[in-house]
Amino acid sequence: MRRTLIAGNWKMNGSLASIETLIGGIRDGIGSVSNADMAVCPPFVYIPRVRELIGDAPIALGSQNICDQASGAFTGEISGAMLKEFGCRYAIIGHSERRSLYGESDALIAARFAMALETGITPILCVGETLEQREANVTEQVVGEQLDAVIGHSGIDAIGQCVIAYEPVWAIGTGKTASPEQAQAVHAFIRGKLAALDTGVADAVQILYGGSMNPGNAAELLAQPDIDGGLIGGASLKADDFLAIGTSA
Ligand code: 13P
Repeated sequence: MRRTLIAGNWKMNGSLASIETLIGGIRDGIGSVSNADMAVCPPFVYIPRVRELIGDAPIALGSQNICDQASGAFTGEISGAMLKEFGCRYAIIGHSERRSLYGESDALIAARFAMALETGITPILCVGETLEQREANVTEQVVGEQLDAVIGHSGIDAIGQCVIAYEPVWAIGTGKTASPEQAQAVHAFIRGKLAALDTGVADAVQILYGGSMNPGNAAELLAQPDIDGGLIGGASLKADDFLAIGTSA
């Protein structure tokens, strides 16, 4: 049975004061979440402070990206070893904002993914289509190619060591959630594609949904057979909402 994972992607939000309130709130309520693992992915600079604030609470820590290189002259990048030092278990890789706003290619994302695994960090690999692509009926092709870039680089076994997040770009930050049926269909496509290569990997890999998930729609999404959790943006910035998503699993 796949365990549910609810991960908060804080994106570029927060302050020293607000993260204290947020983690404090999550800590206070985490006891009510019994059917899901919870993780938070703060901006890099807040990772050490968030680690301290988490203390011994069962909240995993992740980053929002990771360098494809181990060390050296890579200005502005953060290595897997650095993230490990601060207790990061996960790294979001290939978020659509990285792909579209900062030009990260499939090849770069595949290299970042490989480096995460090499460092012992679990990649949360994001895939998803734009509205244009959905309307042109190429969702499966787009998501398939995004997965193939990583499988081609690291192999199918590597997928067994990661978490996949399906995030339709048109649903991110728009308040427009994919319907449970729409999301389930793509999740099933992803699992089917992986099953053609390795059924064990396909059965085991957690596939999260991301895109305007909130306490009002989480239960229905999480009830779908191939949706194993959520990658939450806006609603992860309020402890009550984030916890409510966790308890609806
Ligand atoms: P929202 O939940 O704000 O739509 O963001 C989703 C997302 O991009 C998570 O990575």
